[in-house]
Amino acid sequence: CGIVGYVGPKDCSEVLVNALTKLEYRGYDSAGIAVFDNGEIKTVKTKGKLQDLKDKLAEVGTPKGHVGIGHTRWATHGEPSDVNSHPHSGARVTIVHNGIIENYMELKDFLISKGRTFLSDTDTEVVAQLLDYKYNGNPLETIDSVMAELKGSFALGIMFKDFSDRVFAVRRESPLIVGVAEGECFIASDVPAILQYTRDYYLLDHDEIVTLSPDGVSFVDEHLDPIEKELQTADWDMEAAEKGGYPHFMIKEINEQPEAIRTTIMPRIKEGLPFLEECGITTETIKDFKNITIVACGTAMHAGMVGKYVIEDLARVSVNVDIASEFRYRNPIVGEGDLVIIISQSGETADSLAAMRLAKQKGAKTLAIVNAKGSSIAREADMLIYTLAGPEISVPSTKAYITQLSVMYLFAFELALAKETISTAECKRLVSALTKMPEAVQYVIDNCEEICKFVATKLVATDSLLYIGRGLDYALSMEGSLKLKEVSYIHSESYAAGELKHGTISLIDEDVPVIAVATQTGIIPKTISNVVEVKSRGAKVILVCTDACARELKDGVADYVIEIPHTDELLMPITAVVPLQILAYYTSINRGIDPDKPKNLAKSVTVE
Ligand code: G6P
Repeated sequence: CGIVGYVGPKDCSEVLVNALTKLEYRGYDSAGIAVFDNGEIKTVKTKGKLQDLKDKLAEVGTPKGHVGIGHTRWATHGEPSDVNSHPHSGARVTIVHNGIIENYMELKDFLISKGRTFLSDTDTEVVAQLLDYKYNGNPLETIDSVMAELKGSFALGIMFKDFSDRVFAVRRESPLIVGVAEGECFIASDVPAILQYTRDYYLLDHDEIVTLSPDGVSFVDEHLDPIEKELQTADWDMEAAEKGGYPHFMIKEINEQPEAIRTTIMPRIKEGLPFLEECGITTETIKDFKNITIVACGTAMHAGMVGKYVIEDLARVSVNVDIASEFRYRNPIVGEGDLVIIISQSGETADSLAAMRLAKQKGAKTLAIVNAKGSSIAREADMLIYTLAGPEISVPSTKAYITQLSVMYLFAFELALAKETISTAECKRLVSALTKMPEAVQYVIDNCEEICKFVATKLVATDSLLYIGRGLDYALSMEGSLKLKEVSYIHSESYAAGELKHGTISLIDEDVPVIAVATQTGIIPKTISNVVEVKSRGAKVILVCTDACARELKDGVADYVIEIPHTDELLMPITAVVPLQILAYYTSINRGIDPDKPKNLAKSVTVE
């Protein structure tokens, strides 16, 4: 979910809706705002996207005022519906919430025993009612005492009926920032929401409460003692968070990949070698790690899969890749002397954050690879490498993934140097090859878009398909498959090409296309023989391969061939992912889906 709040001279409803537009990537099951209008809190909310809220505001009348809160929802407790939409209210209080209140049933039972009744199924309404129940005329004391009762994660924007000139906010686990500009202030779940108004903001820490009033912002800690915070300045501008002429963020972000890689790697290279000192990484600090575990969710986990192949190959250190939600609940074998790498675009994914805390608790050192500055994972890790991809708005991750890969490579090179498994000369060769990747990615974007667009027309009516590859191509095909299913709603799976014949090949027929990835010279013939196997069982085959491989292909092996230039073997995932992303994008468009906001998904999942 995304939350926002505003106090200032502008038309509050307009500011809230504008800010929510920038947070829609966090959820779009329903949306709502509440604004003080002539001293009364007026709430308008609805199931559906922000456009539905705008339509409803036009229909029922937009609240007029200067103080308010807003919400865009990704449903957890309670189906998406008008009544479950935020804001939620008690008699004297109205709130918006991002997160999950774990003990809400207990609190609800208590409130019911006190004669309270509930309109919705949400955990949020329980907080609203509890705030109302405990209200003693002093908002800060009330919030503080409610906070003490809440278990779970939350960022709350709160309005009290008696205080019509202010908004209060508090957070635990779920992200929240506080924006400030001349004569006005904001709260938001993420920076892009406020960029159109200001680049100056504060990061709210756990259990801190902020008050937004016409006089500005003030902060207190959980003991209600005033605290000073350090002002941050966003180095992104509005343009980075806008579509800039592209029809969707997804294709814009695909096109931003060359620049994103460049920005991410160039400051981390010195004299032709990896330079990660500023991230707390030197050959000294990493040379003794015995085992590495990479923990992440979704696309970030797929970047970890590529990392595993590369680190094991170059540095000869064993690497496990784990899904964060599994890692955290299975007593993982990590401890002193081990390194746990957490990869996360948002830096706020609840499972990844919990996994990192568990790793620390078990004595492992943690390295975070994160895109969102100042996010929880970034702040708590022992070592930190930021991917410098800029704001990624589209729900399916593209440029964040490619920069995660780039960072994984730099780290693998540094580790291999530290372990003395490669020479300095070899490391320089690899680093130099990495610096050529932005150009190579640009070439693929320029030369593959048309063929991908054409092939996508062949997938429109497909119900199910398979991705296959071996080694790094397998790691990559996992991401290709996820991308396609996220944005096209076509069922797809990725399979290690050699494993297909042990069961999954039974699914193959003329209606189940196969997308094969073959970029690793040594194993290309093996993958091609798997391609022949599926082709002879009727599958339509789309082959993504190097130009060298394409030249040697016999006629009729594949139905469509997407060629990419051969670069250094290990680095091929960086270029090979691009056609897979573009293919997913156009398949989504051809099926009439908005790729930036696929159903049921959210960009940043701050609940487990
Ligand atoms: C969500 C998104 C995915 C993303 C995953 C991990 O499920 O829809 O695109 O890969 O979270 O997000 P993170 O911010 O931790 O990289």
